[in-house]
Amino acid sequence: MARRRTERIKPSEITSESAFFNRREVVRSAVALGLLPAASKALGAAMPPDGDFGELAKWPGSVEEEPNAFEDITTYNNFYEFGTGKGDPARNAHTLETSPWSVEVTGEAEKTGTYTLEDILKPHTLEDRVYRFRCVEAWSMIVPWVGFPLGDLLKRFAPLAGARYVQFFTLNDPSQMPGLRYPVLEWPYREGLTMAEAMHPLTLLTVGVYGKVLPNQNGAPLRLIVPWKYGFKSIKSIVRIHFTETQPKCSWNMAAPQEYGFYSNVNPNVDHPRWSQATERRLGAGLFSPRVPTLMFNGYADEVADLYRGLDLVKNY
Ligand code: MTE
Repeated sequence: MARRRTERIKPSEITSESAFFNRREVVRSAVALGLLPAASKALGAAMPPDGDFGELAKWPGSVEEEPNAFEDITTYNNFYEFGTGKGDPARNAHTLETSPWSVEVTGEAEKTGTYTLEDILKPHTLEDRVYRFRCVEAWSMIVPWVGFPLGDLLKRFAPLAGARYVQFFTLNDPSQMPGLRYPVLEWPYREGLTMAEAMHPLTLLTVGVYGKVLPNQNGAPLRLIVPWKYGFKSIKSIVRIHFTETQPKCSWNMAAPQEYGFYSNVNPNVDHPRWSQATERRLGAGLFSPRVPTLMFNGYADEVADLYRGLDLVKNY
């Protein structure tokens, strides 16, 4: 699998400045991150008002394919707190207040408590990582996310021996999130990973895309990216991290357990009960673009298959 890329195009060279891009939103988000102390290389430089992270550290594990356009990534979204239509989050997520922001850490860890966004990001150097990102409805994108390994953060909370899983919760504020009025899912949105999955270096705590602060519709100010799993594991706008001994509840598994399991690894060999998962459509390549074969673990089998050795992936979907 030749997926590594050695030469990278600068985000500034490929970012198309879409008319959609709401500059006021970016300025507001940038202010949130602009409060950060100058501790890391990437964050140390003063945040310019357009929310650009500047020169990011390059991470060698990125996919080779060219990224999707900024417009694709920021106008075709799933964020049910802002509506179930793909265009709803881009239209409605301007009501999300991302500053100030804090994250509560609870459960099986020594250093539980409430951490500000600044606390969380402070010691970390940001990298940009170009990941293949696949959603369960069989569409995929190539996205240059900005963030750092989630494991680096989790270690700081000193998880206890009982911490076998990590659960994440999204903000649950109907005054900011109009979609919460509708019981399409059990709110708040929540997701979970095994500790090994959470500590894997591919798992990215994400704060930006295309070198810029995350737009609200993509889960500002803090979201997960778990690139070998279906997109719904990549929870947005995280306000709580909970270490637990037992397998945690996850939103899509709660809503339709026969369709969405806890693991939710991309697996072309296991059909979704209502459709095949063997192929996918690359978004942005045109409506009638040919479907391409879906790869096991979304193409990251070399890196992550070991996490599931001995597990029956047909039963543990
Ligand atoms: N997180 C929250 N809080 N609410 C959501 O509805 N949707 C998930 C995931 N994270 C979702 C969420 C799903 S189904 C997908 S495919 C991805 O976000 C979409 O991420 P994107 O909009 O940045 O492409």
